[in-house]
Amino acid sequence: MHPRRQKLWEEIGKWQEDFEDRLIKVIGNRKLPGKNIISIDELSKEDMELVFDCTKLFKEFIIKPDKKINLLKGMSQINFFFEASTRTRVSFELAGKNLSIDTINVSGSGSTIDKKGETLNDVVRTLNAMHADIIILRHAKAGSPEMIAGQINAPVINAGDGWHEHPTQAMLDLYTMLDKRGQIEGLKVALVGDIKHSRVAGSLIRALNKFGVKPHIVGPPTLMPYGMEKVFKCKVFNHLDEAVKGVDIIYALRIQLERAAGGDIPSVREYSKSYCVNQERLALAKFDAIVMHPGPINREVDLKTEIMESDRSAVEAQVENGFALRLALLYLLLGGDRR
Ligand code: CP
Repeated sequence: MHPRRQKLWEEIGKWQEDFEDRLIKVIGNRKLPGKNIISIDELSKEDMELVFDCTKLFKEFIIKPDKKINLLKGMSQINFFFEASTRTRVSFELAGKNLSIDTINVSGSGSTIDKKGETLNDVVRTLNAMHADIIILRHAKAGSPEMIAGQINAPVINAGDGWHEHPTQAMLDLYTMLDKRGQIEGLKVALVGDIKHSRVAGSLIRALNKFGVKPHIVGPPTLMPYGMEKVFKCKVFNHLDEAVKGVDIIYALRIQLERAAGGDIPSVREYSKSYCVNQERLALAKFDAIVMHPGPINREVDLKTEIMESDRSAVEAQVENGFALRLALLYLLLGGDRR
């Protein structure tokens, strides 16, 4: 080997060794509670802090020019996505590949479920028989990840199930708040939009509550589930201007037209007039408030382009943090003493 190349390989090896030592030190004797990540309900504040501590380290890793490390070499990861996804699927796949996991993508339309009528349970039991090490599932039906987790040995990560939860999104959102504001406790957060159909809201409200944050929730009454304040620690508003007054973070949700949200509003135009986050509404929040959105964004409906393109938007930071956080989660679920 050319001496320069040899030196590069030696440096990569040394970097990996140091990085793994630092990961082990950061983790200490902490551990995630179960084998699966299905609902924020199953995680404590301390569990999420463990994920955030590892995410912080993986943020150093994702900016390296050479991003392949052998931490989980020889393991297999199935990304089972029955609904469209860009951010979640690509970041999980890239995270797996960067950790040297063999990653396989199965889409709903390319599966024997869609084409040959096989049940979801039978398909995952087949994957289990091939000793898949982890399954990441996105499905339109709430409860699917929990159902398959009961059938198989491999850990299951919920990548979004119907209107229910999207726990890795909530964790990357909280990590972004922590990164931007220094702490989560004491933050004032307003969630805006289609609360009823949003699994992002389902997980984020649960996660904020674990850190003692009681978010403001605002949206059309037809897109607001009944009894929110009885189930969660939150304050419901009907008018956006009231909800965003003095907050640190405005979190705009996507109106989920594919989940029939269109039937709950007079028109998209009417909805955006009352609930689109724009400059005037942002001016009611703290002077340095930030705007977040899980993506994909309906421009000019959920969020004005002028905000998206401004330095008040944390949308790209959310995506970057999501990649680092999914690296951390895969390592925590499959690495260390779990192997
Ligand atoms: N936020 C989110 O889940 O985006 P994708 O649908 O692109 O994965």
